[in-house]
Amino acid sequence: MSNYHIKNLEEYFQIYRKSVRNPEAFWEEIAEEHFQWRRRWDNVLSWDFEKPEVKWFEGAQLNISENCIDRHLYTRANKTAIIFEPNNPDEPAQHISYSQLHAEVNKMANVLKSKGVKKGDRVCIYLPMIPELAYTVLACARIGAIHSVVFAGFSSTALATRINDCDASIVVTSDGSYRGSKSIDLKKIVDQALEECPQVGTVLVAERTKNEVVMTEGRDHWLAPLTEAAIDECPVEIMDAEDPLFILYTSGSTGKPKGMVHSSAGYMVYTAYTFKNVFQYRENDVYWCTADIGWITGHSYILYGPLANGATTVMFEGVPSYPDFGRFWQIVEKHKVNQFYTAPTAIRALAKEDLKFVEQYDLSSLKVLGSVGEPINEEAWHWYNNNIGKKESPIADTWWQTETGGIMITPIPYSTPTKPTFATLPFIGVQPALMDESGQELKGNQVEGRLCIKFPWPSIARTIWGNHERYRDTYFSAFKGMYFTGDGASRDAVGYYRITGRVDDVVIVSGHNLGTAPIEDAINEHQSVAESAIVGFPHDIKGNALFGYVILKDEAHERNQDNLRAEINRLISDKIGPIAKLDKIVFVPGLPKTRSGKIMRRILRKIASNDVSNLGDVSTLLNPDVVDQIRKIVGV
Ligand code: PRX
Repeated sequence: MSNYHIKNLEEYFQIYRKSVRNPEAFWEEIAEEHFQWRRRWDNVLSWDFEKPEVKWFEGAQLNISENCIDRHLYTRANKTAIIFEPNNPDEPAQHISYSQLHAEVNKMANVLKSKGVKKGDRVCIYLPMIPELAYTVLACARIGAIHSVVFAGFSSTALATRINDCDASIVVTSDGSYRGSKSIDLKKIVDQALEECPQVGTVLVAERTKNEVVMTEGRDHWLAPLTEAAIDECPVEIMDAEDPLFILYTSGSTGKPKGMVHSSAGYMVYTAYTFKNVFQYRENDVYWCTADIGWITGHSYILYGPLANGATTVMFEGVPSYPDFGRFWQIVEKHKVNQFYTAPTAIRALAKEDLKFVEQYDLSSLKVLGSVGEPINEEAWHWYNNNIGKKESPIADTWWQTETGGIMITPIPYSTPTKPTFATLPFIGVQPALMDESGQELKGNQVEGRLCIKFPWPSIARTIWGNHERYRDTYFSAFKGMYFTGDGASRDAVGYYRITGRVDDVVIVSGHNLGTAPIEDAINEHQSVAESAIVGFPHDIKGNALFGYVILKDEAHERNQDNLRAEINRLISDKIGPIAKLDKIVFVPGLPKTRSGKIMRRILRKIASNDVSNLGDVSTLLNPDVVDQIRKIVGV
């Protein structure tokens, strides 16, 4: 039995028990045998969830880019590391070998160095899904700079907030990006953002769409001439195990986005190990994750996890609907994809279309299907299983978070029997607990509660950039001595976990985490708005959509309501990004509040979901009449 590659359910249970009984010995063995270290650790794990502080492989030295690239050159130099599939199907795909990847990453690393970037500096990356994105991420890792990738769908304000929060002094972007039939002027968005970021002295611009851009003298540089002139050898920076590798922002239920900080060694070990097992990756398989590298899924399971295993990973620039709804399946056929990893929202959108978009392609290469980002509903699960996997490719419904760095609850394909809507069993080393609201752990099966994790795993985020107190308050204060996920979950009769959704004010829209408070802050800046409350409600394709209750200022009542709705959504688009736009906006005279002034979101959620059978006792509210008024306006 190899602990590194789980092959059946019995092995899963044996390895799981080992990993929980003696986590240090278990992870030490995995780390020792599958990675390249420049110095061995002195101590496998030290931790204290009260502080909170977690350290894995302390004293060890390594470089993750060396583990993802250089060490494969001995045996896999000509193997394809990345298949770049462009937005336009007529543009040829690029097969980037490990030796080419090595050269490109080294050149990029030398370019960054030539612009003064040093170990520990923050580099903001705002790029579409083009090879330069992968090169820049890995180049940062190579020289020990901390990358902060911002999804290229975020607005200039959102970008500026993220640049300033981590005090990045350099931004890597492109002239534009292709998204289906549209192109987006990314450089212009960067220019707008940088009006708020005086510390940014360098902008490197990759050429993609060839649209006209304004280059600011002295600050902005085209990337290509710099990389062409750069040397393709750059020694790796030797990193300590706990040195930060990257920052990735995620929305909180309140306040500004949280810059989750991930470490070097623990993150590497855990993403590599989960990748190997959750996707049952074998040498020469072609693996494709459809996420954007701007999210944690792309960090861990397009780049780091696959590359650490010497895998071939597909990077797709486009969208599932362009040039038609068969695009995903055409790519599966074209590259003979073996493992396919996507989000339920994409599955639901494609399931609505004619089956001919699926049936015209040969999907027989597929062996494993993955799902991530939100609960997968039963209908979508069956559609995926029947039409894409042809009931032969197990579905790994993988539950995890930006904060966890890697997959936490998931079936192991071909080992764990799957069950629709259940993420099933904890991954090796993961110790979940379900808690009741009074803070007691719910033991045994057939229980439902708040999902916590009792023991550290190697890729847990170490802090929130610049705000360790917020890290403690958000994740370690609700349940003593435990990491609280913010999700609810149930455990069935055999111990399988089912994630029931967020229990805080975060709404998952099309697989994107959106805190409601920042959206309310954006709306409240509208001159006609007095107050607002946002809640989620079920949506056929997006999983959840956003419903806005808005109180207008007196003078605004004369205004055309449709115009106001459009203005509010434009404001949200500008401040956060189009993904945060509201599906429904109603103008209400007030919001239901408790006597202490807290908005009763539970009531608003029920009204938005057209589920008013059990609104509970509203008589104790500060303003009980408002509930009926709102119901009348919404029509439920
Ligand atoms: O609510 C859970 C949901 O997505 C949240 C994490 O979002 P984010 O940090 O953006 O990371 C998404 C990709 C890992 C979780 O708290 N979520 C993620 N995967 C699942 C899920 N909910 C149910 N089932 C899943 N498989």
